[in-house]
Amino acid sequence: MAIISPSLLSCDFGKMSEEVERMERAGAEWMHIDVMDGHFVPNITIGVPVVASLTKSMHSVADVHLMISEPLKYVEPFAKAGTDIYDFHIESESDPAATIAAIHANGMKAGIALKPGTPAEAVFPFLSDIEMVLVMTVEPGFGGQSFMEDQLPKIRAVRAEADRRGLTELLVQVDGGINEKNAADCAAAGADCFVSGSTIFRAPDAGDMVAAIRRAADENFRKDLA
Ligand code: DX5
Ligand code: ZN
Repeated sequence: MAIISPSLLSCDFGKMSEEVERMERAGAEWMHIDVMDGHFVPNITIGVPVVASLTKSMHSVADVHLMISEPLKYVEPFAKAGTDIYDFHIESESDPAATIAAIHANGMKAGIALKPGTPAEAVFPFLSDIEMVLVMTVEPGFGGQSFMEDQLPKIRAVRAEADRRGLTELLVQVDGGINEKNAADCAAAGADCFVSGSTIFRAPDAGDMVAAIRRAADENFRKDLA
């Protein structure tokens, strides 16, 4: 079954923990938290203390997406802040193998994120060592952008390589402009974890939207790969 991870980037930042509760009531099992440093991407969001406050009362999985230049430096503080899955960018300055090792040593799951311009092959050397690949379907930095359809072949390539190697547990996450329509295409290409910010937060009923994305995904999972 598809995993839905609402991106808190689109929430009301003045009442973040209430927004987390609202998303949990809507049926989301993960919570996507976007950390930006104003250097790796041209935007600044939140850091360790805010994540630590949120996870105190959170029941969902803390899915933290690090859009920062040196993710290796912050593995330990984010682990202490209650992060469950630490998604770092392959394009960052940190050594991927050392970062994966540090993430696991700190008791978290490791995700590698790929910007739209980065090919699927960039993550292949690390595929057996991580729990998730995050395929960005917009340029990282801002919520509310349009889904990039040209990323679908990359999703397919990652899932096909994982299948070829028997990595049945590997999750493929999509992030950026995801709605109840393109979630079907992403699922058909092999995605099983869906980040969605503006679509879920702006929906008249968040629960209905979470259910609609989940339905679209579940009905189409792996269709392109069969
Ligand atoms: C973009 C972030 C995404 C994004 C998702 O840099 O990583 O998580 O905000 O929000 P929507 O669904 O609005 O694109
Ligand atoms: Zn994100």
